[in-house]
Amino acid sequence: MKKRVAILISGRGSNMRSLMAAASAPDFPAEIALVISNIGSAAGIQFAADAGIATEIVPHKAYESREAFDRAVSAHLEEAKIDIVCLAGFMRILSDWFASRWQGRMINIHPSLLPLFKGTHVHEQALQAGVRVSGCTVHFVVPELDAGPIIAQATVPVKSDDTPETLAARVLVEEHKLYPAALKLLAEGKVRLEAGRAVFSC
Ligand code: GRF
Repeated sequence: MKKRVAILISGRGSNMRSLMAAASAPDFPAEIALVISNIGSAAGIQFAADAGIATEIVPHKAYESREAFDRAVSAHLEEAKIDIVCLAGFMRILSDWFASRWQGRMINIHPSLLPLFKGTHVHEQALQAGVRVSGCTVHFVVPELDAGPIIAQATVPVKSDDTPETLAARVLVEEHKLYPAALKLLAEGKVRLEAGRAVFSC
């Protein structure tokens, strides 16, 4: 039986689209059952709706606290019987409650080789540091931001004339391949979170 996946987005949703494309293959072990955005105008939400996927807008500004927002999101996930949550450009910091509630079943993609360059302005950080290689990481989500156990990584070269935009574009190409591959591993049970580490059985 395919795992039911929800994707949480805040913006254009290109990683969401790569997950949707992968999940459209008959033998992919997961289906995209729900897309949630905290931003009603997010381009990705229209794309998902047009593709016939259930969507929910949960505007964070309508909630008095971070946890109240997170509980509203979680209620939608539970109602849709979601097995796995994929964060894809979801620009909200999650409460410890939410991270614990979905621990081991929630993954994120980050556009750097973690543990380097957490947070925002990631490509600026990479160029500032002068690294010759950058990339992207898919990791389990834990309460600490961008600190969860690593499932998969891909690298790209950093060129001497790179701007944050050119580097971001090169990394994004790899993100679109890496995220579906990592979701496949999780959905097939080939990676799991155990005692704070990603444990692989493949
Ligand atoms: C991606 O670079 C992702 O790694 C980061 O936010 C960006 C989202 O882009 N977390 P998109 O909305 O998936 O196009």
